[in-house]
Amino acid sequence: MIRSLVAGVGAYLPARVVDNDELATRLDTSDAWIRERTGITRRHIAAEDELTSDLAVEAARRALERAGLAPASVEAIVLATSTPDHTFPATATAVQRKLGAPTGIALDVQAVCAGFAYALAVADGFLRLGHARTALVIGAETFSRLLDWTDRSTAVLFGDGAGALVLRAERQAGTLADRGLLATKLSADGRHYGDLYVDGGPSATRTTGHLRMNGREVFRHAVARLSDSVLAVLAETGLSVADLDLLVPHQANLRIIEAVAKRLGLPPERTVVTVDRHANTSAASIPLALDVAASEGRLLPGRLVAVNALGGGFAWGASLLRW
Ligand code: UT7
Repeated sequence: MIRSLVAGVGAYLPARVVDNDELATRLDTSDAWIRERTGITRRHIAAEDELTSDLAVEAARRALERAGLAPASVEAIVLATSTPDHTFPATATAVQRKLGAPTGIALDVQAVCAGFAYALAVADGFLRLGHARTALVIGAETFSRLLDWTDRSTAVLFGDGAGALVLRAERQAGTLADRGLLATKLSADGRHYGDLYVDGGPSATRTTGHLRMNGREVFRHAVARLSDSVLAVLAETGLSVADLDLLVPHQANLRIIEAVAKRLGLPPERTVVTVDRHANTSAASIPLALDVAASEGRLLPGRLVAVNALGGGFAWGASLLRW
């Protein structure tokens, strides 16, 4: 059977780093509060003239380089973002143009912080159905543009960045030992639309708006849903938590990541944490964390890796991959 194999990972973070102390000069907050409640110490913020597509292109170039492929071989670009350059066209088409990739599939996926899990599933579908042989799956965000910088309860939580995977359609035996994407579980529950949203948009207000969040409510749902979705993808394949080499979770809050690992019975050293350095980069957080894991030599061929995420909607999901 055809599976989507990861051929390369790349990431890009804007040069400007803002630490908690710098935020505390502008907001009624402190380094101690932010560290204790979230684990975040700093975040990267895009330059004024840096667009989501610029971050995405840099991450994509690096991923292609690691895969040993040229932009000419990219047949599909699936970009997860909630901070597109413009309302339309899809930022994926800006990436296609800036990369110099040929005519092919290019679209954005909007599932906020769960966007990368959704984008991975969309790209996997294209590859397995034969619509493309090589796909870029990118998570790229400039959440700094959506923040209300006077609201301490949200402004301290997010950062900008991008990460990308190159996926290749490869024939595999169709067994548990296969490499590539093995299982995906995606969900959404629109009853929570108002718990994490942006109070603007072209249809509702004709403005861009700012991020608003009922943090406690998100937290309350996150741990159960994130761990259940990992258990669901494992159950689908007949594998168990004991088989899992690495969990690469969405990076929103260290307390959520630790609670999910605990609920799964997964030793902390089998979880990747980057929220301390990157803060919450929404759809970019998983590929950014995969890039860190790869550079630390933790993503060796054959390793079983789960990714999971939850965000606005609520939308959430998990995927299981053999590297
Ligand atoms: O990626 C999308 C998914 N998003 C998430 O997963 C976020 C989930 N939620 C969370 O991570 C946490 O709920 C937060 C980090 C957002 C908040 O942590 P918390 O422990 O739930 O704090 P809280 O909202 O219950 O607030 C506790 C107190 C409040 O003061 P009072 O009402 O107890 O007097 C807040 O006003 O902390 C106050 N507070 C702050 N204090 C200093 C809120 N933000 C800050 C701040 N600095 N930045």
